[in-house]
Parts: sequence; structure tokens; C-alpha cells
Amino acid sequence: MLLRTEPIASAALLGTMASSSLDTSWCPSELATEVVGRSIRCYPRIDSTNEQALRLAEAGQAEGTVVVADTQTAGRGRRGRRWLDEPGQALLFSVLLRPTCEQSQVAILSLGAAAACAESLASEYSFPVDTKWPNDLLIAGHKVGGILLEQRGGAVVVGVGLNVNGRPESLQAQVGAALTTLEKHYGAPLPRKEVLVGILEKIDDIYQQFQGGGPAEVVGRYRRFEGVLGRSVCVHLGEERICGTATALTDSGALVVNTLEGEREITAGEVELVTDGE
Ligand code: BTN
Repeated sequence: MLLRTEPIASAALLGTMASSSLDTSWCPSELATEVVGRSIRCYPRIDSTNEQALRLAEAGQAEGTVVVADTQTAGRGRRGRRWLDEPGQALLFSVLLRPTCEQSQVAILSLGAAAACAESLASEYSFPVDTKWPNDLLIAGHKVGGILLEQRGGAVVVGVGLNVNGRPESLQAQVGAALTTLEKHYGAPLPRKEVLVGILEKIDDIYQQFQGGGPAEVVGRYRRFEGVLGRSVCVHLGEERICGTATALTDSGALVVNTLEGEREITAGEVELVTDGE
């Protein structure tokens, strides 16, 4: 779950909350995929699956390696935020990739991961998942997951945090954002292994498409779930704030915002949805 403010829950506290129940027996050991999941490393507790995947990349680990944790003590969110989890309830994983594309196209991989999550959750469980550009996964306007892409050397790590089971109320007060879990919408806990396998298979499929010269097709798969198009938004770009109507997503994954001063193509930023009267 996303922590929008400064760290307020210590890693030590999170670590002791459920240390006796941490478990990796649910973690898959192999997948019927081309690249993603060639090697799967499961940890009961780790600082950050992204950090571990980056460390493995530096040590020469092959692409397709997946790092999974039952809980993180220093989970990272976008824009320097912390990512909190309820131990034993979330999906926290990272995929190590070594794409051959130009640097300008790398960010499409995070849209691809969001599309993979949305496609899998929609087709396997009929979850009405929307994305909020670029990397938020929402159900009924509440955040259920997020993606963090990081690079070191030639390696790209795509990290996914998904609030699968548990009650969103348990961390919502700390996080200060509208959160949800899949369980809340499904009405029962979901098997994390099954959810993870479904998503990894989709990521593998999308990665093949991307590597095969189809970044625009990957953006097309993402576009089907994009919930901000047609909405009034303000996009925060550091100190700058661009407000208008989100009208389109380009084939390179940029968000087009129609402002009073004209059209802007935005490649990175934080979208705030603006409701009428604001
Ligand atoms: C966001 O801010 O919305 C992105 C959150 C990404 C969190 C995931 S959890 C698994 C992976 N490891 C991390 O440290 N972060 C990502």
C-alpha cells in the first residue's frame, strides 16, 4: 500500500507484526513462460524486491528473474515514497529485464506491467480495474496497486505492489489515501499464487510483444484500461502543475492534456483527478 507522506511506520514494527506467519510456500517455483520467471526467488522478508532484483542484476543475473517477498521492510513507491504492506497479504514482486529498445521507450514497460495486471485481473476474476496514468491500478476509484520501474546499468526492474487480501482500513489511516484490496471487492481472500502466476504470464506475453518491435501495441493494451481520458486533471511535474482535460495517450505512452494554453504532451508526472467545482 502506498504511503503518501513521510515514513511513519518503522520497518522494525512491520517486521515484528507477523514475523511468525511469514511464509513463501505459496510462491510459484516455475512458470510456463518464455522469459519472465526463468528463475524465481522467494523471500519471507526483504528490504525491497526492486532493490534485490537490482542487486541480482549487478551480479549478472539473467533477465526474466522474478523476486517475490511475503513482506518488505523498505518497500519503495514512486517519487521517493515508501510502500507499505500488511505482511502475508500483498503481492510484492519485481521482474528483472534487459530490453534491447532505445532508452526513450523503456518507460513503456511500466505501462505494460500495468496492462498485464489489469488484463489478468479482469479476465480471471472480472475485476473492473482502471489505470490512472502512468502506473496506478484502481478499483472503483481506490488504489489497489502500483508499479515502480527502476534502472541500473543496462538492467530494468519492474516492481509491482498489489493489495490482494486484508482490509484496506488497516493501513489507510497511515497512508492517507483511498486504498482498497482485491479481497474487499471479491468478498473472500484470493490465492496469491494464482493471482501472481496469471499476472506473470501476461507480463511475459507483453514483454515478447515489446521486444518483437511492438511498443505501440503494448501502449494499445494499456489504453483499454486508462481511466483518466476525458477527465479533468492536474498533472504535477515537480513545481509545475498542468491542468486541463486528458484527451489521449500517444503511441509512446505520453499523456496529452488539453489546457487553456494549448495541448501538452506529458511523459512523466503525477495525475490528480479534478472533480467538478474544484
Ligand atoms: C507506486 O508508488 O504506486 C509504486 C509502488 C510499487 C511498489 C512495489 S512493491 C514491489 C516492488 N518493490 C518495491 O520496493 N517497490 C515495488
